[in-house]
Amino acid sequence: MIRQAPYLRRLIQTSLSKVSTRCLTAQAASALRDSEPMFRYEEYADIDWNNLGFGLTRTDYMYTSKCTQNETFQQGRLSDYGNVELSPAAGVLNYGQGLFEGTKAFRGEDGRIFLFRPDQNAIRMQIGAERMCMQSPSVQQFVDAVKQTAMANKRWIPPPGKGSLYIRPLLIGTGPILGLSPSPEYTFLVYASPVGNYFKEGVAPLNLYVDDQFHRATRGGAGGVKSITNYAPVLKAISRAKGEGFSDVIYLDSVHKKYVEEASSCNIFLVKGNVISTPATVGTILEGITRKSIIDIARDIGYKVEERSVSIDELMEADEVFTTGTAVSVATVGSITYNGRRVDYKTGDELVGQKLYKTLVGIQNGTIEDKYNWVVQIS
Ligand code: COI
Repeated sequence: MIRQAPYLRRLIQTSLSKVSTRCLTAQAASALRDSEPMFRYEEYADIDWNNLGFGLTRTDYMYTSKCTQNETFQQGRLSDYGNVELSPAAGVLNYGQGLFEGTKAFRGEDGRIFLFRPDQNAIRMQIGAERMCMQSPSVQQFVDAVKQTAMANKRWIPPPGKGSLYIRPLLIGTGPILGLSPSPEYTFLVYASPVGNYFKEGVAPLNLYVDDQFHRATRGGAGGVKSITNYAPVLKAISRAKGEGFSDVIYLDSVHKKYVEEASSCNIFLVKGNVISTPATVGTILEGITRKSIIDIARDIGYKVEERSVSIDELMEADEVFTTGTAVSVATVGSITYNGRRVDYKTGDELVGQKLYKTLVGIQNGTIEDKYNWVVQIS
């Protein structure tokens, strides 16, 4: 009840002013908020910013744009966050024709708001759409939609150091289709939720379990793109591992059952001596944006970084292991269990992974100079 109060207050204010905020463009919504005191948002939503996990919090607005097959996406619109209506025969419901992305907005100490490499998410969505026979928004349209969604939900961007606004762009086949073929209509939708740490462990080291029975992806499949179809099949492995107290699962390649691919929600790195290694993305591993940012940062500060096949035996012999992802950021791995054997790794503040994490977070929140031009300041 208490958590909903500002939202209800906003709805009452909206109806009192007899102006509907449904389907406003971002510019119109922001002009309205600036010119009409009744719409002036409090700086922060009324939630407990100290205990954000990775659960969904209902925010104010979402963005939607549609297109029919072989057309380009229409000008999108912000509307109040809410349920979407779908045909029971929608391609996404029947044949899983869908992609998602994850990106974040950060609030700096000085109040500026930043996005981190949203163009890379746009490009990855385009590559995925090509693989899944879908129309996709242009890079500019994607980035603009992410900006609009972040700004419309600004009061949900956590205070500095408390987390970020996780932004979830979706591209789904919404047209009705009975036979197996591409959907006749696509919807590009963006919503957002404030988040803290992805894992319930918080920033404590993760305990990972290597599952050689279930595989995340196979050669020629869609493991290299962010298809929604890559995620439900790993739920069984994750629930089994979590039931035994592990944080997440590491998958091996489905041909040799020997080479490390990735975890359910993140890419994986190992450190041995002064060399950092990570499995090469060869179609079965997601090309993580945090993964490639960490590779660039590590090379720039003098580490040798190798992208190559990494066997599970080599991972078990590493000095240090960490994972990367948009949701996860950079997380230290404390132990890995494989075939009944558990190995423990170095943990603590002096780790290579922690050094890279601090640099990444500093760039994302504007405290470290962004010599890469990765951050996009939006306010
Ligand atoms: C992300 O890191 O943004 C992801 O999409 C992973 C997801 C399982 C939360």
